[in-house]
Amino acid sequence: MSSATQPVRRLADPGTLLATTHEAGGGLRVRLRLGRPSDALQMRAFLESLSLESRQRRFLHAMPVVPENVVRHFTFFDPRERLVVVATAIFTGRDEIVGVADVAGLQSGMAELGVVVDDDQHGNGVGKLLTEVIASLAIQQGASHLKSELLERNAPMLALLKRLGTTQSTVEDGVAVAYTTLLDAERRAA
Ligand SMILES: CC(C)(COP(=O)(O)OP(=O)(O)OC[C@H]1O[C@@H](n2cnc3c(N)ncnc32)[C@H](O)[C@@H]1OP(=O)(O)O)[C@@H](O)C(=O)NCCC(=O)NCCS
Repeated sequence: MSSATQPVRRLADPGTLLATTHEAGGGLRVRLRLGRPSDALQMRAFLESLSLESRQRRFLHAMPVVPENVVRHFTFFDPRERLVVVATAIFTGRDEIVGVADVAGLQSGMAELGVVVDDDQHGNGVGKLLTEVIASLAIQQGASHLKSELLERNAPMLALLKRLGTTQSTVEDGVAVAYTTLLDAERRAA
C-alpha cells in the first residue's frame, strides 16, 4: 500500500453544511441535502448529462444507458444502511442537481463511498462539499473508515479522500481501491 497525507483539521458539522448555501467556484451557489424519491426525474437528467468517462469512473463500467435501478439507488434508501446527499444549484431559475454522493454499509464501520459531479462544474469545490458532508454523516452513523473503488488512478478523487483522513491506496482483484481512516475516528483512536 502507498500511504498519503496526515490531515489535522476537523470535519465540519453536517447540520451546518446542510443548512447553508455554499459559494463554490465559478460563481456557483450550492445547497446540499439528502436525496429523496421526488428527485427521480432530476436525478435521471443529471446522470444522463454526465460524460461517459464520468459515468465509468463513478460506476466502474461503461453505462451508456442509465438503468432505472441506478436512478432508484440515489432516490430510495434506508438511512440506517445507506445515505445519499445531492448538491443542487440554480440555473436560469431552476434548481438542478450538480452532484451526488452516497455511502453504503454504514453499520459495518467501513462505509463504501461514491461521488460524481457534473462535468461542467469540476474543480469548483462541489466534490469537496459533498464528500465532507457525507463523511460527517457517515461518522454520525458509526462509520470509522471509507472504502472507495477507483478506476485506475483517480487523482481528483484521491485529493478529496485525503482531505477526509489518512488515505491508503491499493489494488484488489485488479481494481484500484482507496481506504480512508476518517478524521474523527483517528482522533478517537489516539
Ligand atoms: C472526483 C470528482 C467527484 C471531483 O469533483 P470536483 O467537484 O471536481 O472536486 P473539487 O473541485 O471539490 O476538488 C477536486 C480536487 O481534486 C484536485 N484535482 C483535480 N484534478 C487533479 C489532478 N489531475 N491531480 C491531482 N489533483 C487534482 C483539485 O485540485 C481539488 O483539490 P484541491 O482544491 O485541494 O487542489 C469529479 O472529478 C468526478 O465527478 N469524477 C467522475 C466520477 C468519479 O471519478 N468519482 C470517484 C469514484 S466513485
